[in-house]
Amino acid sequence: MTVLVTGGSGFVGVHCVLRLLQAGHPVRTTVRSPARAQEVRAMLRTAGVQAGDALSFAHADLTADDGWADAAKGCEHVLHVASPFPSRVPGHEDELIVPARDGTRKGAAGTRVGAAVRRGGDPRQCREPDRARARESRR
Ligand SMILES: NC(=O)c1ccc[n+]([C@@H]2O[C@H](COP(=O)([O-])OP(=O)(O)OC[C@H]3O[C@@H](n4cnc5c(N)ncnc54)[C@H](OP(=O)(O)O)[C@@H]3O)[C@@H](O)[C@H]2O)c1
Repeated sequence: MTVLVTGGSGFVGVHCVLRLLQAGHPVRTTVRSPARAQEVRAMLRTAGVQAGDALSFAHADLTADDGWADAAKGCEHVLHVASPFPSRVPGHEDELIVPARDGTRKGAAGTRVGAAVRRGGDPRQCREPDRARARESRR
């Protein structure tokens, strides 16, 4: 079960990637710049994990549509962590809210949660089948 983690180069994101890999899940994570992929692998090595083929990267930016569908392809779950997190207080709240809100739609776009949202449904409805499937796979 490949898990998509958006923003794997970030503080929270790389911890999510680390814990998922340690739990045995293949992970794909998004980065804005290809150069950050090596930095993510280096951070994981520092934490004692050689990710190898268990970790793959996709390139996507929350402010653009490109790359999100490919990033989500084949992933059953998404941890959407990527978000602008500026070190200074933004001049206007929309500097944070707009990319975070629109980015959440893009980050979830290729997933079942995104599909439920597009249909006008409640994304929480996606939880129960996931739980049922998880219970089934543990048997
Ligand atoms: N740190 C905390 O203690 C904490 C606590 C509670 C909640 N949070 C929330 O968790 C989220 C992440 O926080 P963090 O501390 O991990 O921040 P961070 O270290 O700054 O990481 C942010 C991540 O989002 C990515 N990102 C930012 N803007 C992007 C864009 N336009 N397109 C694609 N990716 C983008 C960054 O990519 P680059 O590497 O390319 O910049 C990075 O991977 C934020 O929403 C924050 O409010 C954080």
